[in-house]
Amino acid sequence: MSISKQDVIKKILPDTPNEGEFAEAFAPGNIALCKYWGKRNTELNLPINGSLSISLGTLGSRTSIAESETGKDQVYLKGELLDDKEPFVQRVIPFVNLFRKDLKQPVCIKTNNNLPTAAGLASSASGFAALMRAINDFYHLGLSRQNQSTFARMGSGSAARSIYRGFVEWYKGEREDGMDSYAEPYECTWQELRIGLLKVATDQKKISSSLGMQRTVNSSVLYRSWAQQADQDLAAIKRAISDHDLEQLGAIAEKNALSMHATMISAWPPLLYWTSDSIEALHRVWEMRELGIAVYLTMDAGPNLKLIFQGKDEEIIRDAFPELQELDIVAPFKGRIDNNPEPTDC
Ligand code: PMV
Repeated sequence: MSISKQDVIKKILPDTPNEGEFAEAFAPGNIALCKYWGKRNTELNLPINGSLSISLGTLGSRTSIAESETGKDQVYLKGELLDDKEPFVQRVIPFVNLFRKDLKQPVCIKTNNNLPTAAGLASSASGFAALMRAINDFYHLGLSRQNQSTFARMGSGSAARSIYRGFVEWYKGEREDGMDSYAEPYECTWQELRIGLLKVATDQKKISSSLGMQRTVNSSVLYRSWAQQADQDLAAIKRAISDHDLEQLGAIAEKNALSMHATMISAWPPLLYWTSDSIEALHRVWEMRELGIAVYLTMDAGPNLKLIFQGKDEEIIRDAFPELQELDIVAPFKGRIDNNPEPTDC
């Protein structure tokens, strides 16, 4: 029989009762430079391959937990009280239940995020990481960062990486219970690095990343070579980060993302998250490179592009995408974030 989330968490939680009064935590969003694509265990969100991301500095989710005054659980998203039947509530409350043992103290959860909604970025990574950190404080669980990452992963795979700022590696692990599949910072700063969040479309995606992964794993011939390729990309990306080599980092991250999309296109039924605007933007990035500007792209399970470049090219890149799309530029290593240790220099 397969192991449940509850079985795994139960072994680590302290025995003492755990009622709380108030806690609040922040976690950044993150963009994978080497993608997580494919699960070896769908219940625990255990990945087939390791991945590496860059956290989005001060952009992310802030979540608070307080005792509910209405006698029932409540979830607010961006100031709005959600109905119990909302899919968001149906994901959040079962996650909290994993940690509140048999105590029946109703809670009021409020979550906000400052990720540019226009960029269509998934907020589940920062959302579950912030929730995990708030749960840890609220119930006085005293979980290590490693365990917080391990458990945030059970809410949303990529949330494992949002527990940290800077570059973050998520180990695929080997164990059946997933206790060796957590993220850790890849200790290295890069002040000049910029991530551009390029809005192409804001529509809700029709196929979630979880469903997309399963379909790809089950039916794509190209997926057979993915895990091995991702392992090589991960190692090469770490070298490029240590060397502050943007050309290498950008080239590998772009190839990695496009290979991931190739596995989706070759799935059955085929899966393509791009729109014609995505393709136009993609060509524009390639044209800029032909003109000698070091700008690279990555894409996730949606139509939007994320650009990778350096601060000195910010103006040129802003000018290159004047109409249609909106561009938000993030300097991942600028600005301090509460409770997050600063990454050290390489
Ligand atoms: O964490 P999920 O289940 O939303 O999956 C994220 C998948 C990608 O964004 C496509 C890749 C990644 O590593 O973030």
